[in-house]
Amino acid sequence: MASSSVAAHSPIPEPKKFAPGPILLLGAPGVGKGTKAKELVSAWGIPQISTGDLLRANVGGGTPLGKQARAIMDRGELVSDDLVNQMVAERLKEPDTSAGYILDGFPRTLGQADWLDQHLGATPGSLPVIAVSIQVSYNQLLRRITGRRICPVCKSSYNIYLQPPKVDELCDLDGTPLTRRSDDTEEVFEERMRAYNSLTAPVVEHYRALGRFEQVNGEQPVSAVTAEVMQAVLRLRS
Ligand code: AP5
Repeated sequence: MASSSVAAHSPIPEPKKFAPGPILLLGAPGVGKGTKAKELVSAWGIPQISTGDLLRANVGGGTPLGKQARAIMDRGELVSDDLVNQMVAERLKEPDTSAGYILDGFPRTLGQADWLDQHLGATPGSLPVIAVSIQVSYNQLLRRITGRRICPVCKSSYNIYLQPPKVDELCDLDGTPLTRRSDDTEEVFEERMRAYNSLTAPVVEHYRALGRFEQVNGEQPVSAVTAEVMQAVLRLRS
């Protein structure tokens, strides 16, 4: 279904009038969690908390955490629960999370899910978490990952197969040469998928069993997937 018709039947609440609470975007590497999270940010004015982005910022900044995480991320494995939980705990103290936030790429293990469930249970006034899982086939994920290019200046994301820039390998917005994430090779993608299937797929089942859970088809245009995610959030919060 086209995004415009989905949105037309059920208007998206305006920012500041809707407090979505904690939203989890779940799904395999390249499923589009970050792309959809950014759309929810602009619709509802709540922050996107991507553990991948936070870890990459630490790697880029050469912090002690970044130094520990770098090789693990380059292999496509998961950083330890303790490090990631601590990083998320710090981020959730920021006042911009009071009306809600989108967790993108967290939790990724049952240990992280237990930590989050306990953390929210101990946070006065917190709404229960809701989870939306995005589904995309393996071959499409591989194209999305190996085709992804990023502007190092403005962080715009492109895909040479699916959403190419107007001029090859240059950012449409500022003309900067695009770069590729070091873990976006086919070999590392396969390791990331192994980690997803063994450690993160059980997290999806954990939230499905809790009941505040919906699944959407991520193999549609970005606007259509975004509209489905938003409608799922509205249903789960109604
Ligand atoms: P992270 O950065 O979280 O990577 P990921 O989960 O593998 O997800 P991606 O960022 O690759 O993909 P995405 O689903 O956000 O897709 P996107 O929107 O970019 O984690 C990286 C590493 O950090 C991990 O491997 C691990 O080592 C570590 N880490 C992170 N969190 C951790 C945690 N909690 N615990 C332990 N370790 C952790 O889209 C992908 C591409 O597809 C783009 O090119 C985009 O343009 C395109 N696209 C998106 N949607 C569509 C669409 N609908 N149609 C066509 N193209 C689309």
